[in-house]
Amino acid sequence: MTDINALSQELFAQLDAAQDEASVEQLRVNALGKKGSVSELLKGMGAMSPEERQTFGPLVNGLKQQLSDAIAEKKEALAQAALDARLLAERIDVTLPVRPEQRGRIHPIMQVFEEVQTIFADMGFAIAEGPDVEDDFHNFTALNFPPKHPARDMHDTFFFEEKEDGSRMLLRTHTSPVQVRTMLSQKPPIRIVAPGRTYRCDSDQTHTPMFHQIEGLVIEDGVHMGHLKGVLMDFMRAFFEIDDVDVRFRPHHFPFTEPSAEMDVRCDRSGGALKIGTGTDWLEILGCGMVHPNVLRACGIDPTQYQGFAFGMGIDRLAMLKYGIPDLRDMFAADVRWLKHYGFEPTVQPNLATGLS
Ligand code: PHE
Repeated sequence: MTDINALSQELFAQLDAAQDEASVEQLRVNALGKKGSVSELLKGMGAMSPEERQTFGPLVNGLKQQLSDAIAEKKEALAQAALDARLLAERIDVTLPVRPEQRGRIHPIMQVFEEVQTIFADMGFAIAEGPDVEDDFHNFTALNFPPKHPARDMHDTFFFEEKEDGSRMLLRTHTSPVQVRTMLSQKPPIRIVAPGRTYRCDSDQTHTPMFHQIEGLVIEDGVHMGHLKGVLMDFMRAFFEIDDVDVRFRPHHFPFTEPSAEMDVRCDRSGGALKIGTGTDWLEILGCGMVHPNVLRACGIDPTQYQGFAFGMGIDRLAMLKYGIPDLRDMFAADVRWLKHYGFEPTVQPNLATGLS
């Protein structure tokens, strides 16, 4: 009898003193496990007389029950305390302001890409892409550049080393190879714009060896120059956010379009600042034209059935004009002070309903 009382007191004292779940578990094994002290008492009952067993049995079983209840309770209390401590330690103050110097900005080129794509998406154009490293076929040959034609040199192409078969890969000099890739992989009607990086060996205030273009291509039955003019004029109005942008088309030459034109917008350079839309000056913005039958043929499209127009414009140029950035090279200097001044809020997406910028 005293055995049980003593054991019970000792076990409950130990349980009280236990500080963590591991020592509670150890206590459980020592008392209630197969070879545990309480289990041993129960085993000893086999040798008792029926009378002894009648008083002893309920006592030991009672102890076993109380102890295992108390252990479960203690375990739960310890787990709760551990969770509380962890929540307290890992607490973050969500009301703390963001550190101002950590705030990123959207680069004006990315902003203009987004704006231009938003406008063309609204007109039903899909986005197409192609690789920066191109081959001669997509960058020149399929676009109707004759072999050895000076236009190939005019592009100041960056070539890679010659391969074993004598061919050389190159950095695309314009986004027009995406026209070829699109026509080879899709059937008309086609209506795409292709934004991306382009490369020419050239560097001054308005030229950098890497620059950005967006290409446009529409191939459909019955498309004519009037559609081209309409799309580009609508684009200019939307992009510069001016209802009345005066534009003019000047005859030009590109091997891959016939007829070809360059588009200028009316502007005002008086007083130092450049104003778009009014004035007596003209500013060249893009190249365009009707897709040359040879290009359609090279891409497996029958020129007697389908016509199309294409245009290509410099994104960096558009960004400089719209946001008054004087030197193109600053765009790629990765100067955070410059980006802070010319950059855009990352959380504001350009959209036509509330204004582009
Ligand atoms: N690829 C031409 C350039 O980079 C622009 C252009 C595109 C002209 C499409 C006509 C049609 O100068």
